[in-house]
Amino acid sequence: MKKTIKDVDLANKKVIMRVDFNVPIQDGIITDDTRIKAAIPSIKYILEQQGASLILISHLGRPKGKVKPEFSLQPVAKRLSELLMKEVKMLNDCIGKEVEEACNSMKSGHVILLENLRFHQEEDSKDSNKRMPFAEKLAGLADVYVNDAFGTAHREHASTATIARFKDVAVSGFLLEKEIKYFEKLLNAPDKPLVAILGGAKVSSKIGVITNLLNIADTIIIGGGMSYTFFKALGKKIGNSLFTEDDLPIAEKILKEALAKGVELVLPIDNVITDGSVGDMFADSSLVERVSTKIVEGDIPDDWEGVDIGPKTIQKINSILENAKTVVWNGPMGVFEFDKFAKGTIEIAKKIAEINAVSVIGGGDSVAAVNKFNLADKMSHVSTGGGASLEYLEGKTLPGVAVLNDK
Ligand code: 3PG
Repeated sequence: MKKTIKDVDLANKKVIMRVDFNVPIQDGIITDDTRIKAAIPSIKYILEQQGASLILISHLGRPKGKVKPEFSLQPVAKRLSELLMKEVKMLNDCIGKEVEEACNSMKSGHVILLENLRFHQEEDSKDSNKRMPFAEKLAGLADVYVNDAFGTAHREHASTATIARFKDVAVSGFLLEKEIKYFEKLLNAPDKPLVAILGGAKVSSKIGVITNLLNIADTIIIGGGMSYTFFKALGKKIGNSLFTEDDLPIAEKILKEALAKGVELVLPIDNVITDGSVGDMFADSSLVERVSTKIVEGDIPDDWEGVDIGPKTIQKINSILENAKTVVWNGPMGVFEFDKFAKGTIEIAKKIAEINAVSVIGGGDSVAAVNKFNLADKMSHVSTGGGASLEYLEGKTLPGVAVLNDK
């Protein structure tokens, strides 16, 4: 168990907190502020402590060590200030004289947001000797280090891991604590039966997750783009459906392992298929309404492409979910970006929201789907981490968690 901000005395302390404000921004407008909102409980708690002040640090995008205005955290400072209903002072850098002076003169209750950490290549350098001096400078700005950036906890970066070497007090915020709580319970002591639903495009990106879940889950349901590679492994025809040759042996191995371990591995019984090309539809979305679709069981004919799970599959998954006590879901069941092919993903999301089970939603696309259908508040936990939740489910130790003080 890791210590949290509740386990340490923050009175009269200057706190530096790593948050994950890597939010989508289009033309200077934040299109999804979930990650900013998710950090609010920790921010408020810290500011409520007598005499405490707060320096927030984050990355945005991958500017690769260069100062690029489109990756500035300025829009985030504005949004955060609106949400907190108080001034958030935004600085032009995250280290240097001006930053030190501003941090030194902070008063109780003040909040500063430093500029994008990744404008400095030392932040995400693979070489720890390069990260060290940068991390030391960040650490020198405050008394206490807090990590609340679950979304970046799988990265061994200066601000997520190295910095803790320079601080006696290094603890988690409430968001990180909540994420750890749900993933630890899921992996170590889940209420059974545990049903895992995995989708998305590539088997290879989920191999670690599937392999680990084969030791924990009672049932693994595979849908979405990667299910066609499993069909192929079973000798079925998949037409033009998504398929990666290199993933074929991985799918074959997973099928064998599931059998050996007695884990029920469920693949779609029927699929929605189209005579159009999904790639073309992404280039020109008006095509979606013009293409034909049909539902098939078994083989997918030549020149047709799988785009969603069919009604029989939805029914089957729903009946499995009825008995589940824990559900983990990562990856959509079809091309949910287009309403025409979103039915499978919507129905599964609705069912998870409705049943009496602990539900953990991880991964960027399944979270996007749950948000799109306004079901987020019906789930037990919607993770703020894409890569981080995948690595957690793979059973890996996250560097940003490992460095924090134990209870
Ligand atoms: C994310 O969005 O997954 C996190 O913010 C991490 O970003 P990164 O993949 O660029 O390290």
